[in-house]
Amino acid sequence: MRRTLIAGNWKMNGSLAANAALLAEIRTGLSGQSCDVLVCAPALYLSQCADLLAGSDIAWGGQDVSMHASGAYTGEISATMLLDLGCRFVIVGHSERRAYHHESNELVAQKAKQALSSGLAPIVCVGETLEQRELGQTNQVVAAQLQAVLDLLDDVAVSGLVIAYEPVWAIGTGKTATPQMAQDVHAFLRKQLDNRGVEIAEKVRILYGGSMKPENAKELLAMVDIDGGLIGGAALKSSDFLAIINAA
Ligand code: 13P
Repeated sequence: MRRTLIAGNWKMNGSLAANAALLAEIRTGLSGQSCDVLVCAPALYLSQCADLLAGSDIAWGGQDVSMHASGAYTGEISATMLLDLGCRFVIVGHSERRAYHHESNELVAQKAKQALSSGLAPIVCVGETLEQRELGQTNQVVAAQLQAVLDLLDDVAVSGLVIAYEPVWAIGTGKTATPQMAQDVHAFLRKQLDNRGVEIAEKVRILYGGSMKPENAKELLAMVDIDGGLIGGAALKSSDFLAIINAA
């Protein structure tokens, strides 16, 4: 059985003071949750997360990672650096990185491979734009995004993936995919994983992201192939994040 993962993606938000308050509120607000909880903070604040979350049930992770192991790549952050700070997860291929930093499916796949080979679980984001959805291209787009990753990985590595379906039109817009729309894409992605074996497909967690909030989390998380959430805006407010955790 897949354990639900509720992950916050803070994006480029926060400060030492604001993070300390948010993390303390989440930490004290957790009680008997039945899911895994993760916060993906800006890299500069990961050591603060390590300090403030040590010994808690909350994991912390990065929002991006270099495809390279180390070396002359100014400004980049390696998988081993993230591990050094206690991260277990890293987001790769978020639509904002694909759109604003021109990350291709192949680059995202290399990043996922680098993360896995270092012992980090990559959360690989896939998702279509509104135009692609309206043109009926959703499955084709997410399949190509996922296949680029699968092509680089052996079966053991594929088992270590987390996937996040994040329709671009639902991110930060307040528009959410209906539970059935999200479920359809999640089931499609799981079928694609099936090509690598049923046990693998049954093991990989597929999260939904895109305006997940306390008001819609329960319905989304009730769908059979939705194994958690990747939450942006609502992860910055402890009461909202905790409410989503409690809905899981
Ligand atoms: P919102 O929850 O703010 O729509 O963001 C979703 C997201 O991009 C998470 O990675």
